[in-house]
Amino acid sequence: MTKRVFSGVQPTGNIHIGNYLGALQQFTRLQDENECVYCIVDLHAITLPKDPKELKENILDVAALYMAVGIDPARSVVFVQSDVPGHAELAWALMCYAYTGELSRMTQFKDKSRGNESAPMGLFAYPILMAADILLYDSDIVPVGNDQKQHIELTRDIAIRVNNKYGDDTFVIPEGRFLKEGARVMALDDPTAKMSKSAENPLSRISLLDDDATIRKAIMRSVTDSDGEIRFDPEGKPGISNLLTIYSAFSGLSQAEAEARYKGQGYGAFKKELAEVVTDALTPIRRAYTEIRRSEALLRVLKDGAERANAVAERTMRRVKERIGLGT
Ligand code: TYM
Repeated sequence: MTKRVFSGVQPTGNIHIGNYLGALQQFTRLQDENECVYCIVDLHAITLPKDPKELKENILDVAALYMAVGIDPARSVVFVQSDVPGHAELAWALMCYAYTGELSRMTQFKDKSRGNESAPMGLFAYPILMAADILLYDSDIVPVGNDQKQHIELTRDIAIRVNNKYGDDTFVIPEGRFLKEGARVMALDDPTAKMSKSAENPLSRISLLDDDATIRKAIMRSVTDSDGEIRFDPEGKPGISNLLTIYSAFSGLSQAEAEARYKGQGYGAFKKELAEVVTDALTPIRRAYTEIRRSEALLRVLKDGAERANAVAERTMRRVKERIGLGT
């Protein structure tokens, strides 16, 4: 039986190789055997301040990137979250079944709010909206990076709680899909922190749209260690291990094969070849992106995607409202 896949990316600019290796690459692979729904989650993006013009552009940027990495809108549904009202509607209902205690334990909320009393309510409720995204499409599989693990667990907990109250077929219980390699790509300037879109130092990440010179610079300057041995050891050698992971993900070699190939060589030579492997992989994506981003078809894809998504979402909302006892 074909399974339903759902995932989303925030339209925040600087989409990087962590997003690609942890999530986007899985999105394209899963298309072959599943029914996939890929969302640009603009309602999540406004949980932190955003410039309206920039947000609108970033939405189209991510849509174009989705297609540039190989998401095929003829096979998969590609749409913008706020174009489908069911997301916000279901999020409200789920809020009534989620506990403030469990939300307070979310590490992403703790990191981003840092105990600040004027942190937006939306930042606190963020994981509930994410649960709504997933449950609205009766999703079986949710391909994401490791940083979303806690949110997926919460989604499952809420879904099971609602099912226990209103019947087992209210929601499909989803499963996260995490890759062994690439699920957590670390920052190039600090391999103990994850690579992030919002980090101040642009050389901490490789954005998918960076030019070759910038990619080379970021890799050559990446933080490693002083013992000079190329060996996979995430605890003891986080910098080199991160680079080996990136190498292996882009080259198709296993981690062990990559390690064997560079054994005994210097970091400089390895970094140079890594830069080559990464630029080779990103050049076609960048080219495709430029073409798609200026094509008029982009808006048509999103409009058609929203219609297809909405048809499923409305069906789920009718079922959920019926179970809970809402409406006329
Ligand atoms: P976002 O936009 O922060 O990131 C998009 C995807 O990239 C993954 N990711 C990483 N993977 C590996 N290494 C990294 N350094 C790295 N950084 C980010 C993320 O895990 C994610 O898969 N809450 C989500 C968006 C979302 C969503 C959803 C996802 C909203 N609703 C429903 C799945 C299902 C987020 O902020 O992703």
